[in-house]
Amino acid sequence: MKRLWRERRTSNLPLDQSGVWRFREFIPFLNDERHVVTLREGNTPLLDAPRAAAYAGLDRLVFKHQGFNPTGSFKDNGMSAGAAQAMRLGMKRVACVSTGNTSASMAAYAAAAGLQPIVFIPHGNISYGKLAQALEYGARTLQVEANFDQILALVRALAERLGIYLLNSINPFRIEGQKTILVELMDQRDWAPPDWIVLPGGALGNTSAFGKALREMYEWKLINKMPRLAVVQAEGAAPFHALMRSLDRSRLTPVENPETLATAIRIGDPVSWPKALREVLATRGAVTKVSEQEIADAKAQIGACGIGCEPASAATLAGIRKLRAGGVISQSADVVAVLTGNLLKDPDYIYRYHTGQLQTPSGVAIQSTFANQPAVVPNDADQIARLLSE
Ligand code: F0G
Repeated sequence: MKRLWRERRTSNLPLDQSGVWRFREFIPFLNDERHVVTLREGNTPLLDAPRAAAYAGLDRLVFKHQGFNPTGSFKDNGMSAGAAQAMRLGMKRVACVSTGNTSASMAAYAAAAGLQPIVFIPHGNISYGKLAQALEYGARTLQVEANFDQILALVRALAERLGIYLLNSINPFRIEGQKTILVELMDQRDWAPPDWIVLPGGALGNTSAFGKALREMYEWKLINKMPRLAVVQAEGAAPFHALMRSLDRSRLTPVENPETLATAIRIGDPVSWPKALREVLATRGAVTKVSEQEIADAKAQIGACGIGCEPASAATLAGIRKLRAGGVISQSADVVAVLTGNLLKDPDYIYRYHTGQLQTPSGVAIQSTFANQPAVVPNDADQIARLLSE
């Protein structure tokens, strides 16, 4: 699909050519090439991770690493489509509320398209890597003294008043673009669906996009089976997990003060929960939650595979381990976990973990189970040789 998309942009293939027709059905609003905004997102790799598989109790585990995207997260697929829609509408300014990755991605795509990006982020609660991206790509950056949920409510009202185009995950065009992650995944697997697709859950836009992609591919007979979606939340920000366990699923009870070191998913009132609920049920999926300790250790295991990811992404491996232990996922299951963000998004977290300084938001020490302590050594060949021969 990605390949066809590229062909469509670089050549004049006839529209009735079957693949192109399919693409046009899949992202129907992108009917004018002049509106396409791209930084060559997509084509992210599938990475076999035997060590992580063993850690989770699986025979085999494959990561689809969205951290290989131009701004280092899964947001780029959707942002390409969202920015294109902003161009279609002739908007000049685009805005988003973000825990960091959306703002980095939006800033880059807006800059590429010649739009002015405005980002609203929770002051003190996004990683420096992501904040740095927004600044470097030229976004007007407002650090609001509130959490993600509060800022989203504020900005939804403000966007209308100021005539700014809002590129949050509630924007349906971004969801359409995000579907391509799974189309690409199936294409890479020769359209053989896995048993499970595992992803972290925050605002739940990605869960709704993945579910929609699966339903459409199934309806069009591109795949012959629906993989099951497993959504993993951080324990301190797990309203969707609570909803799934509740007898009354007609209302989500927001978490007032969500807390997790996986700041990307520090969200207590996920806007896309109704769609995500429908998709998880449609795929006979599962929702689980994991502790700060479990995220930290799973993250170190993904790092030890030579792969690495940011904390929110590591919730996938922690969640698989839990679902495996609970017998929900079987040992021989064919599992793909989507790593949503690049390792370098949050180096501070990594340094603290490996040096035994990581603490939960409430100040409880996190055990550095798989610590890899750096050593300070004198400028002395003999001493260094002695140390390395131990
Ligand atoms: N993983 C990462 C690295 C994220 O940045 C996010 C969300 C998620 C997972 C969760 O995805 O919200 O679709 O359920 N980040 C958003 C942002 C909220 O503003 O960057 P979701």
